[in-house]
Amino acid sequence: MDDASGVAGSMDVIHVTNRGQGPPIGFRSGRFGRVAFAALIYSSMAALLEPLPPASPDIRDLRMYSASQLEPLLEEELREWQEALDWDFTRSADLVRRFVDLRALNGAALLNHNQAVSGYCYYVYEEHKGLVGDIYIRPAFRTSENELLLLETAVRDMIAAPFVSRIESQLMLSPMYPLYSLPYSEYVSAFERDFMMADLSAARDLPLHQLSGTVRLDNWADYHQEAAALLIEEAYHTHIDSSINDQYRTVTGARRFLYNIINYPGCGVFAPPASLVAVNSFGVLAGLSLASIVNDRTGHITQICVGPQFRGTGLGYELMRRSLLRLLHAGCRRVSLTVTSSNKDAIRLYRRMGFKKVRQFHAYVWHGWR
Ligand SMILES: CC(C)(COP(=O)(O)OP(=O)(O)OC[C@H]1O[C@@H](n2cnc3c(N)ncnc32)[C@H](O)[C@@H]1OP(=O)(O)O)[C@@H](O)C(=O)NCCC(=O)NCCS
Repeated sequence: MDDASGVAGSMDVIHVTNRGQGPPIGFRSGRFGRVAFAALIYSSMAALLEPLPPASPDIRDLRMYSASQLEPLLEEELREWQEALDWDFTRSADLVRRFVDLRALNGAALLNHNQAVSGYCYYVYEEHKGLVGDIYIRPAFRTSENELLLLETAVRDMIAAPFVSRIESQLMLSPMYPLYSLPYSEYVSAFERDFMMADLSAARDLPLHQLSGTVRLDNWADYHQEAAALLIEEAYHTHIDSSINDQYRTVTGARRFLYNIINYPGCGVFAPPASLVAVNSFGVLAGLSLASIVNDRTGHITQICVGPQFRGTGLGYELMRRSLLRLLHAGCRRVSLTVTSSNKDAIRLYRRMGFKKVRQFHAYVWHGWR
């Protein structure tokens, strides 16, 4: 379900590319051009003796900068995640700071006319795949043009890496760009995704669904991981979400997916007490619901799935209901999740349980250039 923001969690696998520091790309007109023009008119003669600021934003290698140079930007990003998604971005920002200071985070920095960092984009590699981890531009400098420029830089670098044959990105705060405007648009597919939220106080009124005698619910425990990976691979076989995140296509990929959501903060802090599995009388995992905490008062459902032969019997409903009650018990007031907009069965279930769409974003996948 939620491959959206798990990328920051994948920073354990970082390959450093040999991208040279070429000339700044993308000398385009726009708000920076206007700023430079205004500066020219109003500046004193003395100021005119100084070199003029560049007429448009510069793109530089992110590894030239330290975390302290990104700090104003990260603080604004933290506020924006909080306001738009009720999501505490602190831990993800800490990971960014750590890897930026190690000069180990691949990506691009957008400089404003004062040569201060006003935007960034980073990416990581997972074997054959490149993942756009994040793009953020400070509101005062934000334009589609700047954002697409950062994205273009990242995608171009990843495509140039000989071991990369696929690029994925899910950027919940970014606008939904038309396909043709995206970099390398001939290789891109876009998938609409919904960010949904529910008020947890209503969870108390959801009626218990009595499960058939052959399936019981159990608390999540680490030893369920292997069976959970098998279940995820089976549940998402030919599912639209495995076109968005190819980790769902194999057991190895599903293991990595689980490892990331359990160990890294990209999807929030994993909450074992609000996570459950359904087990049948032969000990086979029939379904699971995994939850995390994204804010002191907000939970997030990072994964819910039911094996094909167990669907339509209320198992998904009951797993979700219990996760919601446990998040409520843990002090949460709200809960969020992300779902592919065309996954109508799942969305019907979520609506029935009180979720409402609060935002829509795109998942992009680039493939086919080799
Ligand atoms: C989405 C998913 C988790 C739902 O699980 P599920 O166990 O099939 O869901 P439920 O049985 O609780 O509910 C599904 C439907 O079955 C119906 N149902 C519930 N109990 C039933 C019963 N005893 N007999 C027959 N139907 C029943 C529900 O009313 C519901 O129908 P409705 O949506 O028309 O109201 C499951 O389809 C799945 O794993 N899909 C693939 C992975 C996926 O998409 N995950 C979500 C990603 S965001």
